[in-house]
Amino acid sequence: LSVLETKKFGRNYIYYHSINSSNEKAKEFAREGAEEGTVVLAEEQQAGKGRLGRTWHSPLGLGLYLSIILRPSIPLALTPQITLLTALSIAKTIEKMTSLGPAIKWPNDILLDGKKVCGILTELSAEMDGVKHIVVGIGLNLNQEATDFPTAVTSQASSVSMQAGEKVDRLAFFNKLLMQLEDDYEHWLEQGFSAIRQQWLDRAVGLGDTVRVIAGSAQWQGRMEGIDDMGALLVRNKAGEIQQLMSGEVTLRPE
Ligand code: BTN
Repeated sequence: LSVLETKKFGRNYIYYHSINSSNEKAKEFAREGAEEGTVVLAEEQQAGKGRLGRTWHSPLGLGLYLSIILRPSIPLALTPQITLLTALSIAKTIEKMTSLGPAIKWPNDILLDGKKVCGILTELSAEMDGVKHIVVGIGLNLNQEATDFPTAVTSQASSVSMQAGEKVDRLAFFNKLLMQLEDDYEHWLEQGFSAIRQQWLDRAVGLGDTVRVIAGSAQWQGRMEGIDDMGALLVRNKAGEIQQLMSGEVTLRPE
């Protein structure tokens, strides 16, 4: 009998009460050869990292702050799919654990009632011939209250408990999340993104809407049309052409 119900994810598990960033630690372990499925979990992060150089506020004992080491044998071009896959697994976990309906904002945010409850930071270490390792960092707001967020983000951020109206069981969430991630990851390795594309679309926000695309230094507005079998976001520009985005950011409801 085991507390964990996964085959691989979390079998090698490193726990910290307090840490700077679980992604930084996981990258260290990955460089030292830690096996696929290794999980680094922290009760709090002193310097949690968000995307685009932002910080991820990670107060003690309220959210789940974890990083998973993956070692897929895939071409580099497929690695952005891992973030999409992870977002889907997190959304499904929230669906199984609550009666809430999470939405996915491409590429890496999970929203509840339009507010961000989870972010994903995927970091890649590559060699000439492919992926060396990937660290997938997940910051999931579970038992935060409105006052637990920095004032700059209170209007856009929320937690599962704020939306559900009751505290949630972090350990149960962690376990379910690891199982869901493992299942979806295996399914994706075998069948590719096309097999989960529809599940992703079913939960996507902004389809058919005007969005602002931020890709590198370029910014433009277009209509979000969907996602293709590679996991590229499809946005129709002013000239009517469909653009494929493999990475970047979109703003919903631009002014
Ligand atoms: C984002 O939305 O900007 C991504 C946030 C990712 C936060 C998680 S918390 C666990 C892991 N360790 C980090 O330092 N960051 C990620």
